[in-house]
This record gives sequence, structure tokens and C-alpha cells, in this order.
Amino acid sequence: MGIEMIFTMKYYPLVYGHRGFPLEAPENTIPSFLLAREAGAFGVEMDVHMTKDGELVVIHDDKLDRTTTGTGYVSQRTWAEVRQLDAGQKFSERWRGVKVPSLREVLTQVKGVNYYVEVKHGSRFYPGIEERLLEILEETGTKDLTQVISFDLESLSRLRQMDSSLTLGLLTCNDVKHALVLADEIGVNWIQAEFSLLDRELVDMAHGRGYRVATWTVNSEEEVMKAREIGVDSITTDNPRMAIRVLSS
Ligand code: G3P
Ligand code: CA
Repeated sequence: MGIEMIFTMKYYPLVYGHRGFPLEAPENTIPSFLLAREAGAFGVEMDVHMTKDGELVVIHDDKLDRTTTGTGYVSQRTWAEVRQLDAGQKFSERWRGVKVPSLREVLTQVKGVNYYVEVKHGSRFYPGIEERLLEILEETGTKDLTQVISFDLESLSRLRQMDSSLTLGLLTCNDVKHALVLADEIGVNWIQAEFSLLDRELVDMAHGRGYRVATWTVNSEEEVMKAREIGVDSITTDNPRMAIRVLSS
């Protein structure tokens, strides 16, 4: 399902599951992404870090401690070590045995959706991460379904220099007007702004300058309706089922 599907969707803005469906399954795991798809999400959002031996893994934090049975930085563990860990049991006993997925696994096992892939740190912290990411998108045939998003301006610039056709989104928790200036400089396609920053005027301004606008994390019915009113193009939510129900009614 590519971006051309936007015009045949029953609802708008597009709905992306934030780290999958984290209200129902452990965040950033394959079951969580599959549940978001089952709920009808247009896409899934995920976070990427890199292991000591260069594997791109899907996990939110720099460290393993909060969501897995492991400890310490992802960057100081090998993929084989991360693979041993349980990423489900801290969420609930029901999900014991669920693993931290590699990016490649998510992109090959969770089909039929689009992807927001957030690069948490660029090559300053994870040398070569941009090259590795592009290789994986090419090899899995998912480049056209993916928007790479990041707060890391250097990483977005590197990606743009390496690939002029990759869809990029600049994440911002600050001044949206300043983000538009940065977006022009880097050459991204989307502005992804934290929800409380946005209003109709800013969304119109971004659209007028040629950007699509995404926002996160839109978790209540009121917020979903407001997101639609102010004209954003996509929302990222912990509850894709609720968001789709509200937007479809
Ligand atoms: O979609 C952007 C959003 O995911 C950024 O915040 O902390 O949930 O990765 P965070
Ligand atoms: Ca994220």
C-alpha cells in the first residue's frame, strides 16, 4: 500500500500506530505492529538503534533496560546478545518470549502497511547507520513505503545527500516556523511536529511551502478530531483503533 492509496482511504488524516499498538502489545515488537495493521492503521511508526556489530534494531530507548530483560546501551551489545533478550514480559506475562526485532524483520514480516522509521541517532553516534538503513530499505523493497524521520538534522542531511528520492520527515518539539527553515535547508518532504505545537495557521503555512504535516502523539478522541480540523496529513497514535473509529464516523 503506497502513498497513492491516500486518495482511496475512508478516513483522513492517515493513521500510524506509534511503536505499533503499544496499548495492547509491547512497543516496537512484531506483535505490536501486526495488531496496528489488524486495527486498520495506514502505517506503523518505529524507532531504530544500531548494535555494536552494525545490526539495525527496533527499540525506542538508547538502553535496553526499560523494555527488555537486558541492561546497558544497545550500542554496546551485539545483535546475538540483543536477540537473547525478552522484549515482552515487562509489558505482561502474555507476551513473554517476544523478541527485539531487527529492522529487516519488521520490514519483511509486517507487510501491507507503510512505515515511519525513526533514526534516533545518526552516524555521529552510530557510524554508518544511514548507509545501512538505505541498504535495508533497498533490499527489502520498502523504500517507497517508508518515510525516514528524525530529530537529527545531520542524519537527515546525509540521507538526502545519499538519496534524492527517499521520503524524509523532520521531527520537531520546538518552533514549527524554524523547523520549516531547516526543512528547506535539508530538503525533507514532511514536517512531523509534536501535537501541542500545531494549529490551523501553521499547518496551512507548511502546506503552502510544499510540505505535508504529520503529528504525534494523538491519543484522545478530542485530539483526533482537532488534528482533522487543523488539516494535518497524518497522526501517530498509541490507539490506532480508536483513531480510525473517530475518523471513520
Ligand atoms: O513519531 C515521532 C515520535 O515517535 C517521537 O517521539 O519519543 O515517541 O520516539 P518518541
Ligand atoms: Ca519514535
